[in-house]
Amino acid sequence: MSAGGRIDPDLIEQVRTASDIVAVAGEYVRLTKAGRSYKGLCPFHHERTPSFTVSPEKQLFYCFGCGAGGNVFHLVMRLEKLDFPEAVRRLAQRAGIPLPESREKGDGGEKKRWLGLLEVAARFYRQCLQEEGLGRRARDYLAGRGVSPEAQEKFELGYAPPEWDRLLRFLVGKGYRPDEAETVGLVAARGKGSGYYDRFRDRIIFPIRDLQGRVVGFGGRALGEGTPKYLNSPETPLYHKGQHLFGLFQAREAIRSEGRAVLVEGYLDAVMAHQCGFGNVVASLGTALTEEQARLLGRLAQEIVLCYDADTAGAEATLRGLHLLQNAGPEVRVMVLPAGEDPDSFLRKEGPAGWNRALAEAVPLTRYLIDSLLARFDLSRGDELVRAKAVRAVAPVLAGLVSPAERRIYLERVAGQVGLSPKGLEGELERWRNNSRNNLSLERNTRNNTQPALSKLEEDILYLLATRPSVARRLRQGGALDSFSRAELCRVAQALAERAAEGKAGAHCLDELDPEAAGLVARIMEEEELRPQGEEAIEEVVARFEARALVRSLRRLQSEIGAAEQRKDLAGLHRVVLRYKALRDGRKPAAGG
Ligand code: UTP
Ligand code: MN
Repeated sequence: MSAGGRIDPDLIEQVRTASDIVAVAGEYVRLTKAGRSYKGLCPFHHERTPSFTVSPEKQLFYCFGCGAGGNVFHLVMRLEKLDFPEAVRRLAQRAGIPLPESREKGDGGEKKRWLGLLEVAARFYRQCLQEEGLGRRARDYLAGRGVSPEAQEKFELGYAPPEWDRLLRFLVGKGYRPDEAETVGLVAARGKGSGYYDRFRDRIIFPIRDLQGRVVGFGGRALGEGTPKYLNSPETPLYHKGQHLFGLFQAREAIRSEGRAVLVEGYLDAVMAHQCGFGNVVASLGTALTEEQARLLGRLAQEIVLCYDADTAGAEATLRGLHLLQNAGPEVRVMVLPAGEDPDSFLRKEGPAGWNRALAEAVPLTRYLIDSLLARFDLSRGDELVRAKAVRAVAPVLAGLVSPAERRIYLERVAGQVGLSPKGLEGELERWRNNSRNNLSLERNTRNNTQPALSKLEEDILYLLATRPSVARRLRQGGALDSFSRAELCRVAQALAERAAEGKAGAHCLDELDPEAAGLVARIMEEEELRPQGEEAIEEVVARFEARALVRSLRRLQSEIGAAEQRKDLAGLHRVVLRYKALRDGRKPAAGG
C-alpha cells in the first residue's frame, strides 16, 4: 500500500506527536499497567485474558493472541476500518489539528463524488421500492419470498424501475454527469450515437457496501424468471469482483463479537439468515471465496464457516479453490446443507434450530476436503490402483498442511481410509512430491503458509532495519534486501529501509506497511529480548545475512549462466558477467535479477 503518499509528511509527524498510543488505545480498551507496558482485552479478537499490549516507549501495540500490531495509525485503521490517510485525518481531528483543505482534492475528490453518487442512487432505489404504485410488484415479490420489512430496511433493499433512464434523469437532476454514473457502473453508453441508459431495470436492488458502510456497487435480481437472474455492477474503480462481501458491513459487529463468520453464496441467503437471527452471515456474491475475501474476514473473525449447498461444494473447482484456504489464518470449517437446499430454503424449512444443528456439525475444511475427495473412489475392494489414485487425489491437501500436528492427524486418517500405514502413506506422498508437475502449485501454497516459519535471522534483520538506520543503509547499498525468502518480506524490508534512509527509526518506520505487515514487525520489535543487542551480536547477524544474500545472488547468476548458455545467448551471458562484477566490487547489482 502506498500509504500516506498524499498527506504532507510534516502533518503526519504533527499528528503522530499529538497522538500518544496509550491514550488513543485507552479510548477503546480498558488498559492496565503491566511493567513497562499496558495490557488489555484485544479489540480485534474475542478473548478472556488480556494479550493486547501497548508500549508507551515504542509507541507500538501488539496482540499476542491474534497478531494484530503496528503504530498508532495502524491501531486506528483497524479499529475504525480506515485506510492510512483517513486514519491520519481522524487522529488530526481528535487532536484538533486543522487539515489543509487542498489535500482533500485531487483524486480523493473524484472518489468522494463517486461514493456520493452511489449513495444517492441507493437512496433513489430504496424510495422507488417504497413508493406506493411504483414499488408494489417488487414489494410483493419480496413478501412472497418471505423477506421481512425489517430485513429490507437493514440491507436497504431497493427497486430499480423498469424505464430506461429514470435513474439517469434523477442523477442529472442532482448535479451528476452521465459519464460519472457510467464510471461507477450505474448506466451504460448506448451503442450508436450518444446517450446512456440505466443498467438496472425492473430489479430488486441489493446495495453492496464496503467495511466502512460505503456503497461500492449493486446487485439486482429479476422479479421473476428474467435473465440474467442476477445482474451485478461491472468492474469499476470502486467495485472489484471478488473483493467485496455482501452484508459484511451489517455483519461486522456480530462477526467480531462471535469471532466467527458464516459465508453463503447468495444475496437472499444472507438476508434471510440475518432475518432469522444469524447476524454473522455474509455472501460471496457468486464467486468461490477469494483470498482477498478470506483476508477481509480474517481480520474480524478467527473462524470462517463456509455454507454451501451440497452440489456446489462438491464441484471440482470449488474444492481446488478451497484448498488454498487451509492455512489462511482463521480456522475454516464447512457446513453442508442437505442436497438441493440453499441457506434460504433450508432456513425456511428447518428454521434457526436447523441452522444451529448444521452449524454444530460443520467440519474442519481439511477433513471435508479429504473426505469428499476420497468419496470418489471405491476403496472397499482394496484395489491397489484405485488406492494409488486416491492417494494422488488427496496429496495436494496433505502436502499443503503446515502444522505438524495437523499433518500427523490427517496422515493417519487418510492412511486408515486408503489402507496404508502412515509410514507407507508418507512414502507415497514423497514420491508424489518428487515426480509430480504439481510442484508449482505446491510451492505457491507453501509460500503462503510459511507465515509463522519466518526464520530467526530474517526476523532479526527486520528488527534491525526498523531500529538501526545504519544497518538499513548498509544492507540497502549492498543490495541484500531482496534476498528474503518471500517477496512480501522483501517489500517490507524495502519499506523499512526507505524510512531508515530518512533517518527514521522505530514506530515511524511502520507507516508505509499494510496492517498485516505492521503486525509482523510490531511483534518482532516487541520481542526485544530475542533480538540481537550490542554491536558484536548485531554485526554477526548482519554478516550472516549478507553472506546468505551473496550465496543467493551467486546461485541466481549460476542458473542464469546455464540458461543463457543453453539458449546460446551471448548478450545474456554478457549481462550476467557485468552483474557478477558489480557484485564482486560491492556495488548494488543492477535491477533485473
Ligand atoms: P443462485 O442461482 O444460487 O441464486 O446464485 P440464489 O442466491 O439462490 O437466488 P434466488 O434464491 O434464486 O433469488 C447464488 C448467487 O450467485 C450470484 C448471486 O450473487 C446469487 O445470489 N449470481 C447468480 C449472479 O451473480 N448472477 C446470476 O445470474 C446468478
Ligand atoms: Mn436461493
